[in-house]
Amino acid sequence: MAAVAAPAGPLRARFERDGFAVIEGFAPDAECDALRAHAEALVAAFESGDVRSIFTTDEQSRRTDAYFLGSGEAIRFFFESLAFGPDGELRVPRERSINKIGHALHDLDPLFERFSRHARVARLVAELGVVEPLLLQSMYIFKQPHIGGEVGCHQDATFLHTDPPGVLGLWFALEDATTDNGCLWAVPGGHRAGLGSLFVRNADDTTTTRDLGGAAWDEARLVPLPVKKGAVIALHGMVPHMSKQNESDRSRHAYTLHVVPAASAYPDTNWLRRVTPPRGF
Ligand code: FE2
Repeated sequence: MAAVAAPAGPLRARFERDGFAVIEGFAPDAECDALRAHAEALVAAFESGDVRSIFTTDEQSRRTDAYFLGSGEAIRFFFESLAFGPDGELRVPRERSINKIGHALHDLDPLFERFSRHARVARLVAELGVVEPLLLQSMYIFKQPHIGGEVGCHQDATFLHTDPPGVLGLWFALEDATTDNGCLWAVPGGHRAGLGSLFVRNADDTTTTRDLGGAAWDEARLVPLPVKKGAVIALHGMVPHMSKQNESDRSRHAYTLHVVPAASAYPDTNWLRRVTPPRGF
């Protein structure tokens, strides 16, 4: 039997108006703490070898290496660009040098899988109107003190595209996020202006950013979304959002999950590929 979308409620109305919705008190503190401790243990166990993949949204310096392109169904570690000195050596302790872990914790790590597939997450996604959601991508983002880099203003649908467009992002605050430690910022209503660009994986595994010609947004309209630990921010795939560099002494850990509707086509121009099809809740 085909799934039926939940009736629109006030949360859904806010989400459709603004392109985002903030829900405080979504996940218990103890679960946030457990995810944080576990992510730190994963980093401690990570042997980087020669792999030093750096995550950045700056196209000039994005490393579209095999390590990144193969991370859609793996648990891989990406460094902060500011973690390295001019000599190429780490200038901070390794446990403070990782930008993020991606992109399949929700499938491959039992603790993250339990959190991601919790009934409260399934209920939220249904309430936001995604029919037959598939859990496509997850990231653990550290936003390290001082060096946690800016993530430039972007739309998630640039990096995960479906036809028709339908990606939904969930951003779970595992620590308090403030304007000092790099909280999210978003453009209210900016999701209605269309998609600005598309990050495309070509047949030869190079990548290109295609300018779609329209959909410029006014960054002066960005508003900060500071939240308490345990909050979730739902993000429409087309809403422009960003986060500034963490210039504080405190980290700002967050976990993100991206879901797509099963009925939407998932073109192979997406950078993220799966051998095992993504699963629902
Ligand atoms: Fe994003």
